[in-house]
Amino acid sequence: MPALKVNLALIAAGLVFVAEDELGAARGYMALRPTGMGGLILLEGIFVDPACARSGFGTRLFATAIEHSRRMAGSVIMIFSNPHAVDFYSRLGATKIGMTPFVFSPDVQLSVFAFTIPAP
Ligand SMILES: CC(C)(COP(=O)(O)OP(=O)(O)OC[C@H]1O[C@@H](n2cnc3c(N)ncnc32)[C@H](O)[C@@H]1OP(=O)(O)O)[C@@H](O)C(=O)NCCC(=O)NCCS
Repeated sequence: MPALKVNLALIAAGLVFVAEDELGAARGYMALRPTGMGGLILLEGIFVDPACARSGFGTRLFATAIEHSRRMAGSVIMIFSNPHAVDFYSRLGATKIGMTPFVFSPDVQLSVFAFTIPAP
């Protein structure tokens, strides 16, 4: 689905990060998008190779999201979570603030989370 592809403009802007394993193989990515509204940063996407699920890559990528958002003067990361990732974001300390239909498949409800970036 084109809308779910990694956005080249975000790569060029240095907002896409890749997690590698100890051999240097790409195992996941995370992308951020500043919204221009106060300190609100959107988690554009986070994806881990299913073969590496539950190995900590997602947590590492989210830690990078926090670190980079802080550098961009972010105070809150907003997340639109698919139903399978809800436990992941809850475990990371994000707060569920609502639900919204997935624009490309409105029968799927996304959970909206807000993660408050802690002071360094
Ligand atoms: C969601 C996703 C990013 C998690 O990445 P991950 O590398 O597997 O996550 P971690 O190993 O860092 O997991 C950290 C904790 O989150 C929770 N968690 C992660 N995946 C979970 C799952 N499928 N079910 C329940 N809890 C889960 C667990 O508490 C886990 O800790 P534990 O393994 O010690 O119990 C990954 O599964 C993924 O890419 N999914 C497909 C794409 C996706 O849904 N992306 C989110 C878009 S909104």
